[in-house]
Amino acid sequence: MSFIQPVKPISRLNRSELAVPGSQPKFFEKALNSQADVIFLDLEDAVAPEEKPRARKNIIEALNDLDWSAKTISVRINGLDTQWMYQDVIEVVEQAGQFVDLIMIPKVGTASDVYALDMLVSQIQMAKGFTKTIGFELIIETALGMQNLAEIAGGSKRNESLHFGVADYAASIGARTTNIGGANSNYSILTDSTESNLRQVHWGDMWHYALSKMVVVARANGLRPIDGPFGDFSDADGFKAAALRASSLGCEGKWAIHPSQIVLANETMNPSPEEISKAKQIISAMGKAESEGKGAATLDGKLIDYASIRQAEALLKKLGE
Ligand code: GLV
Ligand code: MG
Repeated sequence: MSFIQPVKPISRLNRSELAVPGSQPKFFEKALNSQADVIFLDLEDAVAPEEKPRARKNIIEALNDLDWSAKTISVRINGLDTQWMYQDVIEVVEQAGQFVDLIMIPKVGTASDVYALDMLVSQIQMAKGFTKTIGFELIIETALGMQNLAEIAGGSKRNESLHFGVADYAASIGARTTNIGGANSNYSILTDSTESNLRQVHWGDMWHYALSKMVVVARANGLRPIDGPFGDFSDADGFKAAALRASSLGCEGKWAIHPSQIVLANETMNPSPEEISKAKQIISAMGKAESEGKGAATLDGKLIDYASIRQAEALLKKLGE
């Protein structure tokens, strides 16, 4: 291993991240009483332009009036290229900064975007005398953001997590889909025909490269990788399959754009009882091997070694064990 290791910022349970439009205050208390690990109150794409000032007020009032302490609470601000972002930050942080855990920055394209926000938030906190650390969640959802991932990830000590914003990313790269996440029948392989078999269509995962790249960069910088939205909230199986793929690649959580997706995300992001039991068996079999002076062992007919311990420990860490 390299002598230099990524410094991990605050660790938080982030299996599910519920999106709640700031223009819909009737949903705030419901979100607070939900099973979501993180809630983000949205000022960006779920809020119409004329609703932005009202949404800001709703969020500020709710942050001050409700007790959010049992949750991790985030506010998604508008992008740096809009007319709204500066007021989002100034009003929310000045008037409710002590209750905000995270600010979610959409469409981050360069490390300077993160620097600019860090400077603004730091100034407001100094002026107001707030000592609470406000972390950043960065949505990677543009071609530019994907290109500059490494610099962005290392762009501020406030950075806590990277999120894959599949909808905006699809638009940004000119992908041929109008789905928000999920499968695309056009992204498939047609197998060669064999003597006994007709040709078959195998669907691929068109987001594999982008999500995997984001996970790698997040981990190299000590940040949580989080998978973004799955738009078809009536398709629980499709959501679970997407969440399982993300979790298999290393993501710690997934967005819920509908309350029904919260439990699905929490359950899918937790390793199954079988995976947990296997991880524990590996650790104990390796402990026994080590006590016998061996660096490798056989478990269920397969080789395990010290790397297997690290894999098992990484899996158990998802449970906070
Ligand atoms: C999220 O913001 C997305 O664009 O998918
Ligand atoms: Mg987006």
